[in-house]
Amino acid sequence: MRSLKLLASPKSAGKAIKFKGEEIPVETLGEDSFRGVDTALFSAGGNTSKAYAKHAVRAGAVVIDNSSAFRMEADVPLVVPEINPADIQTHRGIIANPNCTTIVALMALYPLHQTFWVKRVIASSYQAVSGAGAKAIRELSLQSESFFSGAPSSVEVFPHPIAFNVLPQVDVFLESGYTKEEVKFVNESRKIMHHPRLRASITCVRVPVFRAHSVAIHAEFQQPVSVDRARDVLAKFPGLELVDDPSSMTYPMPILASGKNNCQVGRVRVDSALDNGLAFWVCGDQLLKGAALNAVQIAELLAR
Ligand SMILES: NC(=O)c1ccc[n+]([C@@H]2O[C@H](COP(=O)([O-])OP(=O)(O)OC[C@H]3O[C@@H](n4cnc5c(N)ncnc54)[C@H](OP(=O)(O)O)[C@@H]3O)[C@@H](O)[C@H]2O)c1
Repeated sequence: MRSLKLLASPKSAGKAIKFKGEEIPVETLGEDSFRGVDTALFSAGGNTSKAYAKHAVRAGAVVIDNSSAFRMEADVPLVVPEINPADIQTHRGIIANPNCTTIVALMALYPLHQTFWVKRVIASSYQAVSGAGAKAIRELSLQSESFFSGAPSSVEVFPHPIAFNVLPQVDVFLESGYTKEEVKFVNESRKIMHHPRLRASITCVRVPVFRAHSVAIHAEFQQPVSVDRARDVLAKFPGLELVDDPSSMTYPMPILASGKNNCQVGRVRVDSALDNGLAFWVCGDQLLKGAALNAVQIAELLAR
């Protein structure tokens, strides 16, 4: 019999979540939680994944992990189903869901790579607060209310106020000066696209947007590019929608991409600072395609 089991920390035990008309109680995660489970979707942070994924695998489940705990391990496939579905076949119990910004960016970069072969990428992200979890959504709401009422506001999740501000920091800084989020983009893009020699650099920025990440991408390709050809391959790529009509000021925006399964790409133009260069702008709901939806698509691939 197919059934759903919901696991969380002791804080949530006793709550119930409605699924297909049925109230399903939330249980506390434990080492023995996975008996009888065939697919386990983990999304509780890297430490929880590291502590419990092995128990799930031992119980016979395939783990689809949303954290960064296993993404770069050689025997763990890192999968975006529209890009590298065949990689799931190599799994040994754990399949990793890529970083949210990386998924959104690659949904537009990969079809262009298939057509023109990408050599170099320079990008900037504009990342929604929900990418940092439920507490971060509350923080932006509370800081916005305080801003208008003049009341003092507190800063807990982010290192500085996020309301009416932008933070050029997502995750912690590394010795190189890049943040961990920026390094994830480079390493994960290479792994997913099977392109170990890709040269990439990104500045990841947190913006006061509740939902949906945006990425401005400047890419240099091996082959000569054309905007018409680029638009054509982008429009045909599954899971991606071309939203690109400068004459009517039509382009992707977080408010358009929020709640949608498809990522959206627009502002496609020749990048005049690069050889065979294209510049474009992609938005995607990072809670859906950047996390939950991608994990469910992996589960569907597995089931097939
Ligand atoms: N948000 C995104 O856009 C996004 C995108 C891609 C990947 N991710 C990754 O997904 C993971 C979760 O992120 P999130 O944004 O969903 O965070 P979140 O809003 O803080 O939710 C975390 C969830 O994990 C549960 N949890 C925490 N500690 C636990 C424990 N010890 N045992 C069992 N359950 C526990 C929490 O349950 P309680 O409420 O009961 O504590 C809650 O349901 C992270 O690894 C994050 O990097 C997030």
